[in-house]
Amino acid sequence: MKVGFFGGTFDPVHKGHVIMVEDAIRLGHLDRMLVVPAGRTVHKPADRVSSAGMRYMMCYMAFTDVRRVEVSRIEVLREHGSYTIDTLRELKATLTGKDRLYMVCGADILFDILHWRSPEAILREIRILASLRPGHDRIEMESRAHELRKRFGADITFFEARQADVSSTAVREAVEHSLAITEMVPPAVDRFIRMAGLYGVDDPLESLDLDQQERLRAAERVLLAHMDPERLSHSLLTMTTAARLAADHGQDVYSAALAGLVHDCAKHLPPDDAIRYVDPGDAATLAEPQLYHGPAGAALAPAWFGIRDPLVLDAIRYHATGRSDMTWLDLVLYLADKAEPSRTYLGSDAVFEQARKDLAGAFLFSCEGLQEHLASRGKTMHPDTNAAIERLERSQLH
Ligand SMILES: [Fe+2]
Ligand SMILES: [Fe+2]
Repeated sequence: MKVGFFGGTFDPVHKGHVIMVEDAIRLGHLDRMLVVPAGRTVHKPADRVSSAGMRYMMCYMAFTDVRRVEVSRIEVLREHGSYTIDTLRELKATLTGKDRLYMVCGADILFDILHWRSPEAILREIRILASLRPGHDRIEMESRAHELRKRFGADITFFEARQADVSSTAVREAVEHSLAITEMVPPAVDRFIRMAGLYGVDDPLESLDLDQQERLRAAERVLLAHMDPERLSHSLLTMTTAARLAADHGQDVYSAALAGLVHDCAKHLPPDDAIRYVDPGDAATLAEPQLYHGPAGAALAPAWFGIRDPLVLDAIRYHATGRSDMTWLDLVLYLADKAEPSRTYLGSDAVFEQARKDLAGAFLFSCEGLQEHLASRGKTMHPDTNAAIERLERSQLH
């Protein structure tokens, strides 16, 4: 089987990437393709590049409908930056003797590759499948390939991909200037960029210092190791929504972002496992297995993410129910979880808009909807939610 490796920063992935991958497969050069978003980028400062989770998510969305393509987490899971040769060798080791690994790239890479780490090893060990674009000078490319073949025994094949006049830089600039990017990226990526507020001018996460960004990225790696794409997307969007709400209310953006990112960290645990973390006297929670992940997440977050801040841990514990004495972060996380932009129930936008102005009011408003929803299914409100409503209603009267 011919397996392609297509690596990059993908910040963001765009239609040019998708077309190149589609054409490499369509033209019969490959049977299978691994798209590999880079983890920590070796050449670019970390705070200039979107997080690995965000870039992975966009790649996942861009390629989810493209047959024979898989988006790999091999690099985004790494704590330290990695060089292409290391990833290629690691991938090669997982293939069978009959498989052949090809590095897929733009043909202009041939002029650049000698500046990479261990270029000789790449050229000797890995086949190269280089896409020629209409702008490329074919003769120049061929003569360069000839030279590399002669010097290193390189195996280079060219293929002609359709043209797509787009770059990640152009996408980022368009978003920054509030221009449409419909022509530049797949629709799902367009939606995700807007939902997560990526590349925008007033991203509250930009205000975090390097150490805080680093800690968020470390937490994200833990989630990347076990979360499915859907839950990861929800976690990232809860993070950006919580950060936005904290910024709107002049509260600590970092705590909100961290709580938003990890709040569902225990959701993959089987109920039999998660129930151990529920207070044995809390009959109402014990009766609802889908609520176990709140207390379980709060109990596991110190070990998994090094979180010790009781404000953050309590917000995780009560994120699905609320509680009598809700802190600002309890409210922010509860609302961000309920109203992050991929939520599609009726009224989620209104909850978010109200939360930007009035957290307590938005909580009470969202509970009205919840009450109706539960009543329609013959269920009643959790006592902690009732306690929260009572308390907030009383405080609003004063
Ligand atoms: Fe949850
Ligand atoms: Fe959630």
